[in-house]
Amino acid sequence: MPLETRSRDELIAEIHRLEDAIGRFEHEDRNKVEKLNAMEVLVGGIAHDFNNILCGILGNISLARMQLEPCHGAALRLEESEKAAVRAGELARKLLAFNFGGELAAKKRIALPPLIRDVALFILHSSRIERVVDVADGLWPVEADGGQIGQALSNLLINAVQAMPEGGRVAVRAANLHLEYGKPYRLPPGDYVWLAVEDEGSGIPPEDLQKIFDPYFTTKPSGTGLGLPSVLSIVKKHGGAVEVSSTVGVGSRFEIVLPAASGGVSPGLGE
Ligand SMILES: Nc1ncnc2c1ncn2[C@@H]1O[C@H](COP(=O)(O)OP(=O)(O)OP(=O)(O)O)[C@@H](O)[C@H]1O
Ligand SMILES: [Mg+2]
Repeated sequence: MPLETRSRDELIAEIHRLEDAIGRFEHEDRNKVEKLNAMEVLVGGIAHDFNNILCGILGNISLARMQLEPCHGAALRLEESEKAAVRAGELARKLLAFNFGGELAAKKRIALPPLIRDVALFILHSSRIERVVDVADGLWPVEADGGQIGQALSNLLINAVQAMPEGGRVAVRAANLHLEYGKPYRLPPGDYVWLAVEDEGSGIPPEDLQKIFDPYFTTKPSGTGLGLPSVLSIVKKHGGAVEVSSTVGVGSRFEIVLPAASGGVSPGLGE
């Protein structure tokens, strides 16, 4: 029924229904973030010990290899073991990166454009990928840990590239965003910086959309399922929000909204 034909009571009931729905979403969000925080501590601790043990294994394999002639029958076995240990080390590093220790390491006023350009250049270097970086002039600065925001952006860009094995276009966009009352992005009104990563990849089926931010959810043979939970965790710790929209066979768009630094309405820091 169109809004203008409804009675005042009906409209008030509708507003209450929407407020309840927002409340439920916020509660779900809080639960997810609390679960993530607990997991970060646990996973980080295990990954740290695992990494130390691995260093011992790797060091000894390398020493043993040096004591053998390259043509020795065991040399190839040791070389394969070394490669497997290096792969395990990469996994441990991913898990360690997932542990943000609750607090943000180095939150300061930063300009996002150079960070966005550096990360995009670093990840989107393949000749099969058409890179589009569209950053609005005078982008407001944010109060953030640049390393973590860079990590979040990398995770999104890596996913975008992985969703397009045959290649295609990946766009990173950034613009200033003023949010009014009514909780768009489920955020309070104010000044924000909006970032989006768009791809033309496989897209995400509706039944998976609910799960992609759950730790360890992956559809990739060698994925860990920690990329998007890290993004959510980082952005939440900066007081922001993450949104996703996707159509199977067409592509996906991940949006990050971060609060602008106070007094952020002047472009400030250089681009
Ligand atoms: N841009 C995208 N296009 C299509 N599917 C995506 C995209 N981004 C994420 N997904 C889906 O969400 C899942 C979870 O992503 P996430 O980044 O958390 O883990 P992963 O990429 O599988 O592994 P990892 O990031 O640890 O290497 C992916 O396995 C994939 O199914
Ligand atoms: Mg990923």
